[in-house]
Amino acid sequence: MSDTITAVRAALLHFIADPAITGDQAYQYFPDGLLIVKNGYVDQIGDAEQLLPLLPQSITVNHYPNCLITPGFIDTHIHYPQTGMIASYGEQLLDWLDKYTFPAEMAFVNQAHAAEVAEVFLDELLRNGTTTALVFGTVHPESVDAFFSQAQQRKLRMIAGKVMMDRQAPEALLDTPDASYQQSKALIERWHQQDRLLYAVTPRFAITSSNEQLAKAGQLLQEFPDVYLHTHLSENTDEIELIKQLFPDAEDYLDVYDKHQLLGSQSIFAHGVHLCDDQCRRLAETDSALAFCPSSNLFLGSGLFDLAKMEKYGVKVGMGTDVGAGTSFSLLQTLGDGYKVSQLKGQQLSPLKSFYLASLGGAKALNLDSKIGNFAKGKEADFVVLDYQATPLIKYRLEHTTDLAEKLFVLTMLGDDRAVAATYIMGQLAYQKEKV
Ligand code: GUN
Ligand code: ZN
Repeated sequence: MSDTITAVRAALLHFIADPAITGDQAYQYFPDGLLIVKNGYVDQIGDAEQLLPLLPQSITVNHYPNCLITPGFIDTHIHYPQTGMIASYGEQLLDWLDKYTFPAEMAFVNQAHAAEVAEVFLDELLRNGTTTALVFGTVHPESVDAFFSQAQQRKLRMIAGKVMMDRQAPEALLDTPDASYQQSKALIERWHQQDRLLYAVTPRFAITSSNEQLAKAGQLLQEFPDVYLHTHLSENTDEIELIKQLFPDAEDYLDVYDKHQLLGSQSIFAHGVHLCDDQCRRLAETDSALAFCPSSNLFLGSGLFDLAKMEKYGVKVGMGTDVGAGTSFSLLQTLGDGYKVSQLKGQQLSPLKSFYLASLGGAKALNLDSKIGNFAKGKEADFVVLDYQATPLIKYRLEHTTDLAEKLFVLTMLGDDRAVAATYIMGQLAYQKEKV
């Protein structure tokens, strides 16, 4: 069979390391670049002028003038069942869960409803240039079947799991340690490593899981060492107080998970807003990752994430929208919020670091950097085409700007889904913005 080749021409940017550590050596940038994809995988990138003559005559080049191509965005923490209740007014975490989140999640007992929401959700991810996400389902196994079937049809690299929760929530949303173990196991056997899909063992957070259930989560990780662990950690001060009451024997919040062997290189903890030095050290030494969710942390008034502290301790960090507590599917907007949170901490989140976090940094946090996150030869060719003329204001602001970092910064501060001209999955066009 002959090879399928796609070639796209635009400015190209990708990272090979963390710019906070490696500086200008951390990335490659081609102002007029060409990305060549063979059978869905990156084959070559470079200057268009040099590579164009090497392309077979029969290949049509998709040219995007005034655009920047980067690897597809990676969202390291998001809840698909919360798509329909995003932007719900007035509460902080625990009351927000009771008032809005739990009622919305109850509807996922119906697989047709779950399928409908999964479709809206995946459309929204692609419209925003997000090509991989680590996704919460609900307690219902049907919610995960619905999500994975849709993601599989679209050939996406997605990680998801059924929520495990056996207390401190409405009866209709509770499972038991045993049922959650059996259901998760069946889902792992059905979906994990099918095409580009991966499974995450997903205890909601320690408040809604008994010790018995957390032990079952640990058992699943022992039995299936390459699945993920996805949960919440240290998001809100009332939450942390309740954890102290529920787990009087634990040193701190992280220790609750640690005692059940839930830390490791495949473990991603959302938030980590209120972590002491010891907890940061422990995350780093176990190679666990945090999802930085600035939009959510601002919306729920949870607190300000300390990115510099995580850099100091060497904790892996990716960006998370945390929709529906986050108020945007856009990683660009989320990075804009990340910049503002950092300002309030007296820190500067540089534009290069921002784009690193949304691509290779996210891939490293998900331990997927051998497959996605940059344009190294052989990587899966998921990418996003960003439009420097997306809105009149962005166009005007960038008119006389040649500096890459400045352009990136403007995209994070002024950009959102409107800045996504197209999204490609495995070298195939999966979304294209309508021309207005
Ligand atoms: N902690 C436990 N469940 C949730 C949730 O659904 N969203 C957020 N932001 N935090 C949580
Ligand atoms: Zn969350």
